[in-house]
Amino acid sequence: MSKLTLNDRLREPELSAALDTRTLVVGPYPSIHRPGADRAASARSPEARFEEACGLARAIDLNLVASERVTLNVIRPATYLGKGKVEEIAELVKADEIALVVMDCALSPVQQRNLEKAFKAKVIDRTGLILEIFGRRARTSEGVLQVELAHLAYQKSRLVRSWTHLERQRGGFGFLGGPGETQIETDRRLIQERMIRIERDLEGVKKTRALHRASRSDVPYPIVALVGYTNAGKSTLFNRLTKAEVVAADMLFATLDPTMRLLKLPHGGAAILSDTVGFISDLPTMLISAFRATLEEVLAADVILHVRDISHEDSDAQSKDVEAILGELGVAVGAERVIEVWNKLDKLDPEQRMAMLDGGEADEAQPLAVSALTGEGTERLLDAIEVRLAQGRSLLEIELEGADGQGLHWLYENTEVMGRETSDDGRVQLKVRVAPDKLARVTRRFGGVTAAQ
Ligand code: GTP
Repeated sequence: MSKLTLNDRLREPELSAALDTRTLVVGPYPSIHRPGADRAASARSPEARFEEACGLARAIDLNLVASERVTLNVIRPATYLGKGKVEEIAELVKADEIALVVMDCALSPVQQRNLEKAFKAKVIDRTGLILEIFGRRARTSEGVLQVELAHLAYQKSRLVRSWTHLERQRGGFGFLGGPGETQIETDRRLIQERMIRIERDLEGVKKTRALHRASRSDVPYPIVALVGYTNAGKSTLFNRLTKAEVVAADMLFATLDPTMRLLKLPHGGAAILSDTVGFISDLPTMLISAFRATLEEVLAADVILHVRDISHEDSDAQSKDVEAILGELGVAVGAERVIEVWNKLDKLDPEQRMAMLDGGEADEAQPLAVSALTGEGTERLLDAIEVRLAQGRSLLEIELEGADGQGLHWLYENTEVMGRETSDDGRVQLKVRVAPDKLARVTRRFGGVTAAQ
């Protein structure tokens, strides 16, 4: 029998076959909610959690052939589920030719191994599933490295499983310590070495990113970041708002980071729009740092768009999850720079829709309803972004000689021109919005008086 290489074994907990794998999702939730014992349960009903777990499995193209919610009175140390339930599921797995069982809970390595034995199928828990999702969605090199690091840490904590697996492969008997034990030490060392190498790479990537950020601060574009629950429609909105805006300045970011693009604002201004990884409820602790690293841009953003799927029945709980994570990152709920975007307006019935679209100026502290799919409401959203960015900027009235084409050009390049009139004598009156770092230059060169907002 051929020996498994480290790479094979490292890959093992991943769903390398994932596409179309016949899958069963099991949601084992405690019968009585004990506050503090189960973080996710605090905001969600078991139905909603279960629905979410199934949705996550579908989102990575697993072939969900069956799903089962289980009410737990006690958690069994050996198998998590009770004996009868394990046998019942084993039969279902056999009958439906299921290759993968996703358990929406945190399993110890021993529980995972025992369930795999009983089901004769691969078993992953919630952390395994989320790692897979992160792995597939990570788009920046930093994100990819962070996920790999989290994956290795997960595998390291689970090496006991690889060991028995190997032992089976070799037909070993397990006494005298034997080859398994040596192997597990070797594996642990190899994983450790790989983790150290990734950490070193990450340092490099971080430095490069800091450099880019510094060079970006020379570019007069503020940053607008999209955040939101997974599947809220961030990427769709990102594409909708930045459609076909591939200009030279854009390339600067596009080649380095596909999650950033130039966003044109209604009055000629521009911003960088940054897409982020989707939020997920009850993020396993070991994944939080990987997740945070991908959110660095958010902290530096001038405006944060919190995108919500308003048609989702669980929308409020999702929103609370997102706000909690933002809070942990230091962005307070209701912070000035956050705009709530209610997406998927097209999925609501006409009455609900009208109620949402009705009334309100673009910058009132109320959510903006849009449909990223049809484009409805996105103009108002752009207005709101512009107004929000304008806070902290000065509005000036400037008068130019008609002949000062160069001055005019400079103003168009470096400020937001909000209004322009030409008098009979050819003089041009402009209303411009100026970023704080440009204000001194503008007033030195053009004078100008502060205009009423
Ligand atoms: P993650 O990458 O998981 O964070 O998801 P995301 O927030 O980027 O969501 P994405 O843009 O991938 O959209 C998720 C699904 O919702 C896709 O099937 C979209 O087509 C759909 N969707 C997005 N916006 C709208 C909308 O306004 N209306 C409708 N009906 N569907 C939408």
